[in-house]
Amino acid sequence: MFNVRNVGEGIYWLGSSDRRLELFENAYPVPDGMSYNNYVILDDKTCLMDGIDDAVTRQFMENLDHVLNGRTLDYMVVHHMEPDHCSAIPELLQKYPDMKIVGSQKAVQMIDQFYHLKVDAITVKEKDTLDLGKHKLTFIAAPMVHWPEVMMSYESSEGIFFSADAFGAFGAMSGNIFADEVDWERDWADEARRYYANIVGKYGAQTTAVLKKASAFEIKNILPLHGHIWRKDLNLILDRYAKWASYTPEKNSVAIFYGSVYGNTANAADILSVKLAERGVRDVKVYDVSKTTVSELVSRAFEYSALVFASATYNAEIFDHMHTFLTDLENHNLSNRTVGVIENGSWAPTAGKKINEILANMKNMTVLEPQVSLLSSLNEASLAKLDELADALAAAVK
Ligand code: FEO
Repeated sequence: MFNVRNVGEGIYWLGSSDRRLELFENAYPVPDGMSYNNYVILDDKTCLMDGIDDAVTRQFMENLDHVLNGRTLDYMVVHHMEPDHCSAIPELLQKYPDMKIVGSQKAVQMIDQFYHLKVDAITVKEKDTLDLGKHKLTFIAAPMVHWPEVMMSYESSEGIFFSADAFGAFGAMSGNIFADEVDWERDWADEARRYYANIVGKYGAQTTAVLKKASAFEIKNILPLHGHIWRKDLNLILDRYAKWASYTPEKNSVAIFYGSVYGNTANAADILSVKLAERGVRDVKVYDVSKTTVSELVSRAFEYSALVFASATYNAEIFDHMHTFLTDLENHNLSNRTVGVIENGSWAPTAGKKINEILANMKNMTVLEPQVSLLSSLNEASLAKLDELADALAAAVK
């Protein structure tokens, strides 16, 4: 009857998934919906860890009432003040008027900004603690993972790391809330990367810093605000995060992204993929930037070590969809990649020059030679250049 699971001694997960949501943050397609996690600790004091998105508040309030089983709520820890975790604050304060909100100074300020509420809050900072009885929380500042007010916390009696947005994923969840209850690598790893790259990807340095601070604690369980709980094989997700946060590719291979108007740039991209396959490069991917959502393209750029951008020239610029994709990569601080560039144009191909201008703003991007220029379609000369680019890419991913 209630969407609740026990996840530790006196610790409960309250689950709410939204399968009707089309766009998370009104930006990122979520064909499989979105999950929102909350946790309740029942001890001498009762404590709710974070709130919930508007869309699923009713279910959340029912679950909370069920878990509290007649007790009141003493504390609500606000790890993150983004409304997907905080929309229920006004309703919670109405129902539990004595509830003390615990959060960073910035979080408390944001409660007023969002809800025009001056709450009687306990403000906490790095290393502050909250004593609930047997359970004790230590707070860890995690600015910009993903907003400036973010705190994470560590519960010492069970080694639980409440990780806020970190370690989340796109996608609604079933009752199998633990990563070891699903085939995470097969079914969830891509959506976890797409979530990380797009939501937190810009803040790799801050994510790396908080991972370093967290490593000082003996973490046995990771409880994020979205996606699965980790109680086994923690290194699987920790290693993945260490890679993503340091802009280290997961896969040593080539992803080719093309923006094509009449199919000739697409043809060059496909032919390049064949040439790479013939040179022994495995797992080459080809994406049409007009067709594939930019959040998926960004995710694949985080995954692959070598990226090829093949673009038609349009209004003397990079083809629109490719331009959006490239600026998104720049905005997300993508770095440390090997790059191939292909341009096309029927009278004045300039896309390659413009692509190079964007790449120049990104860190440690190695642009391979030759860069291939097509006049409308491949010809003998440009095909020969494509062969040379294939040689250079194959050598780079060996
Ligand atoms: Fe899930 Fe940054 O909010």
